[in-house]
Amino acid sequence: MLGTESVIGIIGSGAMGSGIAQVAATSGNKVIIYDTNADALKKSKENLNASLTKLVEKGKISETKKNEIIAITTYSNFLNNFKECNLIIEAIVEKLEIKKQVFSEVEKIVSDNCILASNTSSLSITSIASACTKPDRVIGIHFFNPATLMPLVEIIPGVGSDSKIINEAKKLIDSWGKVTVIAKDTPGFIVNRVARPFYSEALRIADEQIADYATIDWAMKEFGGFKMGPFELMDLIGHDVNYVVTETVWTQFYYDPRFKPSLSQKRLLEAGFLGKKSGRGFYNYQNGEVLPEPKKDEKLGKYILNRVLCMLINEAADTLYLGIASKEDIDLAMTKGVNYPKGLLKWADECGLANVYSNLKELYAKYEEDRYRACVLLKQLAVENKAFY
Ligand SMILES: NC(=O)c1ccc[n+]([C@@H]2O[C@H](COP(=O)([O-])OP(=O)(O)OC[C@H]3O[C@@H](n4cnc5c(N)ncnc54)[C@H](O)[C@@H]3O)[C@@H](O)[C@H]2O)c1
Repeated sequence: MLGTESVIGIIGSGAMGSGIAQVAATSGNKVIIYDTNADALKKSKENLNASLTKLVEKGKISETKKNEIIAITTYSNFLNNFKECNLIIEAIVEKLEIKKQVFSEVEKIVSDNCILASNTSSLSITSIASACTKPDRVIGIHFFNPATLMPLVEIIPGVGSDSKIINEAKKLIDSWGKVTVIAKDTPGFIVNRVARPFYSEALRIADEQIADYATIDWAMKEFGGFKMGPFELMDLIGHDVNYVVTETVWTQFYYDPRFKPSLSQKRLLEAGFLGKKSGRGFYNYQNGEVLPEPKKDEKLGKYILNRVLCMLINEAADTLYLGIASKEDIDLAMTKGVNYPKGLLKWADECGLANVYSNLKELYAKYEEDRYRACVLLKQLAVENKAFY
């Protein structure tokens, strides 16, 4: 059984690995972080110290607690030190072949009952597990960035994973103060799949010149209550990350037009306009954060929100229909993983499923594209005048 006495091994001391390590050590678990890059290990150690010092200054933890966390966190560039680990979480580069190689190497070192997990955002857990002689102990444990602040963790069984291991991992991560949801091993799991239309439908509206970026951002915040608009958010995430996730999900779903990326975003990536971090993305940040004024047209704003929201609800409905996750977990994932103001299925009930279905039918009739096909479950419930809850 995993518990506070369990030793956690982290592979990869980048943004995610370092954050996950801090979460585990804060809960009292001994942590060993491994990376092939000595500079990355050094940076990780410095960042932990800086992050804990800030928490002490803010009065969130005591100096003693800070020292305890530091004392139980060790750094290593030898995988052999993982012998004593009970759970390993891998957070290295997002490349399937490299992950498979690392899993097969680490499996030779750890004990038979050590659980092996990947923090991958987009790769198949089942495929990673296939590199191991005991694939039943391999699962996905997907944290969100920054891992220390974002409450959601998706737990993903591979096709051959042992269900006991899923329960054990869930209990441990819950004990770290996180909100866990279970997702089937499919592209994007819950959040990175269901959230796609937030970006892609907004891009489609802009590409069709129905509204500009600032107006779409304004509409989603003003009428939808989203904390950030899609273009601001894509610029913040960075197009090197956001576009690549969209493209990966689209290709893994056999080019389903529902997930089709936008050429406008691809061009930004090609130009090196990665968003806020490079000074330019959809918006120009070179002179500070002065963003263009939206066109505050209420009718247009409500049309934009309605269109994006219906596409989001449709994706959430399909995720439920295809058994990727329970309705409760889908709603929890979107509120805790990407801060949506409401769970999408609950929101759908509030809008009335007949209204959502009718909007989708209108889009489908207008464009005659498979992208706008309504989820069968949504259609069925709407026709029967029922709700998700
Ligand atoms: N950054 C995010 O927003 C985010 C969110 C959720 C999940 N993820 C996933 O987490 C993983 C890591 O992402 P990140 O943003 O922390 O990356 P990162 O680039 O910040 O860090 C990756 C680290 O892995 C190390 N590394 C690379 N190959 C290695 C190997 N063979 N053995 C040991 N160490 C190796 C690198 O030196 C680097 O320090 C990826 O799978 C990514 O998809 C990222």
